Amino acid sequence: MKSISSSSSSHLLIFISLLLSFATFTFSSSGVRVIDGLKNYSELRLPNGTSGPESLAFDCHGKGPYTGVSDGRILKWTGTQWVEFAITSPNRNRTLCDGSTDVNNEPICGRPLGLKYDTKRCNLYIADAYFGLLKVGPNGGVAQQLARVDDDGVPFKFLNGLDVDEKSGEVYFSESSAIFQRREFQLIIPTGDRTGRLLKYDPTNKKVQVLLKNVTFANGVALSTDDSFVLIAEFSSSRILKFWLKGNKANTSELFARVERFPDNIKRNKDGDFWVGLFSNRVIGTSTLIPWKKLGDDPLGVKFDNNGKRLEILDGRGGQELNSVSEVKEYDKKLWIGSSMKPYVAVVN
Ligand SMILES: *[C@@H]1O[C@H](CO)[C@@H](O)[C@H](O)[C@H]1NC(C)=O
Ligand SMILES: *[C@@H]1O[C@H](CO)[C@@H](O)[C@H](O)[C@H]1NC(C)=O
Ligand SMILES: *[C@@H]1O[C@H](CO)[C@@H](O)[C@H](O)[C@H]1NC(C)=O
Ligand SMILES: *[C@@H]1O[C@H](CO)[C@@H](O)[C@H](O)[C@H]1NC(C)=O
Ligand SMILES: *[C@@H]1O[C@H](CO)[C@@H](O)[C@H](O)[C@H]1NC(C)=O
Repeated sequence: MKSISSSSSSHLLIFISLLLSFATFTFSSSGVRVIDGLKNYSELRLPNGTSGPESLAFDCHGKGPYTGVSDGRILKWTGTQWVEFAITSPNRNRTLCDGSTDVNNEPICGRPLGLKYDTKRCNLYIADAYFGLLKVGPNGGVAQQLARVDDDGVPFKFLNGLDVDEKSGEVYFSESSAIFQRREFQLIIPTGDRTGRLLKYDPTNKKVQVLLKNVTFANGVALSTDDSFVLIAEFSSSRILKFWLKGNKANTSELFARVERFPDNIKRNKDGDFWVGLFSNRVIGTSTLIPWKKLGDDPLGVKFDNNGKRLEILDGRGGQELNSVSEVKEYDKKLWIGSSMKPYVAVVN
């Protein structure tokens, strides 16, 4: 009798765990869909020695992803391996740079952060932390510098995120700080630095316009589908701002959403919703302004609709695998996950 009941309960357990293993998502108490980041998880390991695939892009044929890594190269995933695609510094020293993870080499090697393909013209736009705004054609090679100084002639200190208006070719991009370079980013928070900016590059006159000043650690940038607004992440304030480009609120900004932890890149999906990558370095500690545990145990990405309503949360289940997420890109029914530190791009499907 005893053995029968224990065996039927263990059958029940097996049945339940089988059921669970086919469900990669659940719903939180607030109705937000929670995706288990460790179910159906895989990694595209970078070439030995490199790390930090911050941002991801797919080209006009749907190939990729492309990503910028620690040694300054932009790599392309062919489906089976990573190959070199482009570099951002014309004088990049291969002996010194290839395979480097030394941040002190970044000013020589480059550090491509924000990436976005203009799929209409097949150009990849790059925000390099040290070499400004660049673009490179479908064959790659040495990228062409578009802008390295602002409208007052002041050199950019630390470019970070970008998005491209495929209709006009205008590029919206962020400068994280006017004082600190990327390799000194850890000084931005303790000094209370508020010199980040949202900028716009106009390809018709090659001018750079400042849209928003005094942004705290300006990071990810994403345009709305109808180009009526652009979002910008304030990494160290744990919030996303909305800057209006059209309508009666044009040229003004407002709060779009607050997030738990540090918001990094923002990527729009094909439905016009926005995935915000949440940097979660558990050593630095997390922002506790928001009771994020109610939304999931370990939120590493959050998807918003156009109005700032939460739709989905990517939960890392406290594992090391997704500990330093910089970007969540929804593409081809998968989530492609970038990181400023890990030696791989993670894929959740
Ligand atoms: C996990 O991935 C496999 C292969 O892509 C897919 O067939 C399956 O539907 C996925 N499972 C869930 C629950 O998404
Ligand atoms: C990369 O590093 C791993 C672990 O150190 C090693 O096993 C592998 O052979 C290396 N691969 C190449 C291509 O060097
Ligand atoms: C490139 O880097 C190597 C290793 O640091 C150094 O020995 C060499 O002089 C550098 N070459 C140039 C042209 O700067
Ligand atoms: C606002 O940003 C400008 C540079 O864009 C800087 O000179 C100024 O100090 C900032 N103000 C504050 C309060 O941080
Ligand atoms: C927004 O600012 C730009 C540049 O300063 C200006 O050309 C445009 O007229 C402004 N639009 C509105 C609605 O104020």
